[in-house]
Amino acid sequence: MSSTFKDQVVWVTGASGALGAATARTLADAGATVVASSRSVDERLFAASPNVVPLKVDVTDDKSVKAAFAQIEERFGRLDGLVTSTNVSTFGDFLELTDDDWQSVIDAKLLGSVRPIRAALPLFIKQGRGAIVAISGRGGIAPPPNHFPGSSVNAAIDLLVQGLGRRYGPQGVRVNAVAPGPIRSPRFDALAGAQSQNEPTRLTALEGPGTPEDVAAAVAYLLSDDARFVTGSRLYVDGGGPPYA
Ligand SMILES: NC(=O)c1ccc[n+]([C@@H]2O[C@H](COP(=O)([O-])OP(=O)(O)OC[C@H]3O[C@@H](n4cnc5c(N)ncnc54)[C@H](OP(=O)(O)O)[C@@H]3O)[C@@H](O)[C@H]2O)c1
Repeated sequence: MSSTFKDQVVWVTGASGALGAATARTLADAGATVVASSRSVDERLFAASPNVVPLKVDVTDDKSVKAAFAQIEERFGRLDGLVTSTNVSTFGDFLELTDDDWQSVIDAKLLGSVRPIRAALPLFIKQGRGAIVAISGRGGIAPPPNHFPGSSVNAAIDLLVQGLGRRYGPQGVRVNAVAPGPIRSPRFDALAGAQSQNEPTRLTALEGPGTPEDVAAAVAYLLSDDARFVTGSRLYVDGGGPPYA
């Protein structure tokens, strides 16, 4: 990557998770000051990354998100990037999942992306510059049978970034999604454990699963000036999906 993030401030949500934490570390290693938020995040997670600032935020609570953004703006006076990576894992058969199961995914992941984006956008517009990357997921185009709530939300996020990219491009704000496939993480283990026997055993054309760092590299690219002409798009980090037999 030719660009670095020196002097830039980036907010990563879901930063105690596998993908969010790797993203925060990658961006910090590239020179960014990273505000790493979640409900349980703390400095122990980022002991080796002095320019990561942990911040406790509940993305299901709009007041908590607004207060976090206000803190970021007050402390740094700028924001260059936002990465949304929150999630609650709700796997199960469609007939077994309740409204509450669906609602929890919508609240933590779809609205959990909408709320930080809505909080940060006015500053990005004022700056005439800003980049947003929302983590969606490959299920948004190929939903596994035990993962319909998360997959539906992934599709919604992919559509949202397309709309936001076109809506706010003229103001200098880029909005993209990264759609991971199977990535080595506790969440992947949970999904694999809940897999039905009818699903393919080899999930990716390339040798997999991927790593959180594979996702972080894609996020860093989309946040960087190397992607200055890329908006409203989604980048799959999914090893090509299941291979043809
Ligand atoms: N791992 C994969 O294989 C894979 C594949 C496709 C897509 N994805 C997507 O990639 C994203 C990250 O996945 P992951 O594997 O890193 O998930 P994860 O390890 O389960 O992390 C989820 C993160 O969301 C945070 N979170 C949940 N509810 C929250 C709330 N109410 N307020 C604030 N933070 C909240 C959690 O932190 P706290 O509990 O501390 O709040 C945690 O940091 C998710 O959107 C996931 O759907 C992952």
